[in-house]
Amino acid sequence: MLARRGVGLCFFWGSAVPEIDTSGGRLLRGFGPVAVVTGASSGIGLEFARELARRGFHVVLAARRAEVLAGIAAELEARHGGRTTVVAADLATPEGVRALLAATEAMDVGLLVAAAGFGTSGPFIENSVADELGMIDLNCRGLAELTWHFARRFAGKRRGGIVLLSSLVGFQGVPKAANYAATKAYVQALAEGLHHELKGRGVSVVASAPGPIHSGFAARAGMVMGLAQKPEAVAAATLRALGRATTVRPGWLSKFLGWSLALLPRWGRVRVMALVMGGMARAGHSN
Ligand SMILES: NC(=O)c1ccc[n+]([C@@H]2O[C@H](COP(=O)([O-])OP(=O)(O)OC[C@H]3O[C@@H](n4cnc5c(N)ncnc54)[C@H](OP(=O)(O)O)[C@@H]3O)[C@@H](O)[C@H]2O)c1
Repeated sequence: MLARRGVGLCFFWGSAVPEIDTSGGRLLRGFGPVAVVTGASSGIGLEFARELARRGFHVVLAARRAEVLAGIAAELEARHGGRTTVVAADLATPEGVRALLAATEAMDVGLLVAAAGFGTSGPFIENSVADELGMIDLNCRGLAELTWHFARRFAGKRRGGIVLLSSLVGFQGVPKAANYAATKAYVQALAEGLHHELKGRGVSVVASAPGPIHSGFAARAGMVMGLAQKPEAVAAATLRALGRATTVRPGWLSKFLGWSLALLPRWGRVRVMALVMGGMARAGHSN
């Protein structure tokens, strides 16, 4: 309920068992001490939160479901010690974005991982227009606003990192996921541009472009994913690439699919994706 109204809820979990993994050295030195992870209640965002807590970051966990986030905060605290902050907010709304910015204003944030997002599947004109626009609000508008604010803060102190969740589908049009693919093309282009724009100002930006990943994504999009990788593969590979690459294709599957598609002209890629989505898109849509 709170989340639906875009209201932020913020609370702190105290320090407990200090088992900080010092292998987080490069990341913690470059992008610590506080990391903001959106979409931290599930899938890819959750794995980023776990990986960053393991490396000694104070992680700010943001998504809509307060209770789920509280459970994750308790898990991270028990396993790694250190501090977590929960911000329950609907990041598809300006109020939700503002709540997250306000909750983190006084913190020494050095890393933003923008993983909150969702997709739809099926023919665009048969889907709900509210869902399609809500997807733009979350995947593009909310992400852009958070990126703008944190990028300015990081540029001001000439230090910081930004991870934007793009996708394999963001490199061409995708029939039966047309609007979702378009939101990811936006994220990919934004990340590429900002990578070059901000690198001279001490800010690293990386686009992470996974292929199919087991998470809550497929159920919400009404898709069936046969072959998919674990979300852990995305977090680890992306954090390794931060500060070193413009785009990372995490895991063997995204590399294999990405480079296979890259051999084709753009119109050919669209046709291949039409075939792929024909098998994955929501049952009941055949045109
Ligand atoms: N899974 C894949 O195959 C795949 C492939 C390429 C890229 N991606 C991208 O990876 C990112 C993470 O997806 P995932 O696979 O981890 O899916 P997921 O398991 O469904 O996680 C989505 C996350 O976004 C949060 N979220 C959804 N709507 C929100 C809203 N309005 N406000 C705030 N948070 C919201 C969800 O939390 P709440 O429900 O608690 O709000 C959840 O934490 C997305 O941007 C997705 O497009 C996924």
